[in-house]
Amino acid sequence: MMILRAPVVSLRSVGPDMYVLSLHAPQIAANVLPAQFLNIKATDGSEPLLRRPFSVYRTQGENVEILFNIVGAGTRILSRLRPGDLVDILGPLGCPFSLESDFRTAVLVGGGLGVAPFPHATNALSRSSRQIRTFLGARSSPHILRDHLQNVSVATDDGSEGYHGTVVALVRNALESGSIDRPKIFGCGPEPMLRALARAAIDLGIPCEVSLESVMACGIGICQGCPVERTGGEKKYSLICNEGTVFDARTIKFS
Ligand SMILES: Cc1cc2nc3c(=O)[nH]c(=O)nc-3n(C[C@H](O)[C@H](O)[C@H](O)COP(=O)(O)OP(=O)(O)OC[C@H]3O[C@@H](n4cnc5c(N)ncnc54)[C@H](O)[C@@H]3O)c2cc1C
Ligand code: FES
Repeated sequence: MMILRAPVVSLRSVGPDMYVLSLHAPQIAANVLPAQFLNIKATDGSEPLLRRPFSVYRTQGENVEILFNIVGAGTRILSRLRPGDLVDILGPLGCPFSLESDFRTAVLVGGGLGVAPFPHATNALSRSSRQIRTFLGARSSPHILRDHLQNVSVATDDGSEGYHGTVVALVRNALESGSIDRPKIFGCGPEPMLRALARAAIDLGIPCEVSLESVMACGIGICQGCPVERTGGEKKYSLICNEGTVFDARTIKFS
């Protein structure tokens, strides 16, 4: 884990209110693993005071990229950065997806901005002999971001592109058809989606890891502000920031 001030390389708009921010951070770009995140201080001032967590979207040489949409003060500040501005980042944080375990096809399932960790995961997976299937869900077609992904199937809430319905229904249909060779699911997105995905994985007996979110303060296990309830084992609760964000879906008690 490092703390550093990284210069902005570029900020590009990639969809409605969606941006990719590229930062020059060689040490992080060389070491960050899929589903790890950065805790970013959006401003030197006190508003907002706390860092904001973002998944690493992609690495490009010595640069590291995050994908974000504007939801509040911190992300609005990020959307106004210019090349050369310095950004205070802490990372890489959290545990990565287990891409080395025993499976043949990685089934990547992203809801909304939950697509964020998958370009980096796709890059890592494409260096192995594994197959990749990607399932993306969003409100409508303009909110689907398929850049740097492989074999993408789409579900939209309004039916403007792909399957008309939820991404979990889409992926469940594909898994039930038996056409996916020895799958393992990797999910990221809003909690209701992850809950439904975990249910489907358990029903179908398919291994599944989910990357969870929470409002975070420290991001490194100090403030105890990001607990998630577990289904069994030694601990009743785990901290999402440093015991996750990735968990075996069977071990999470979704609210
Ligand atoms: C591990 C992790 C990875 C993340 N990766 C990404 C990413 O790749 N791209 C991205 O756009 N966002 C990501 N997020 C969410 C992102 O951190 C928040 O959207 C961001 O902190 C909002 O900051 P803000 O100051 O703009 O908004 P704020 O003013 O802090 O919040 C605006 C609204 O969003 C709510 N909110 C803030 N954080 C969360 C959260 N984690 N879950 C649900 N509601 C929240 C607040 O309660 C408030 O209602 C991630 C969160 C976590 C924990
Ligand atoms: S955010 Fe502080 S312990 Fe997780």
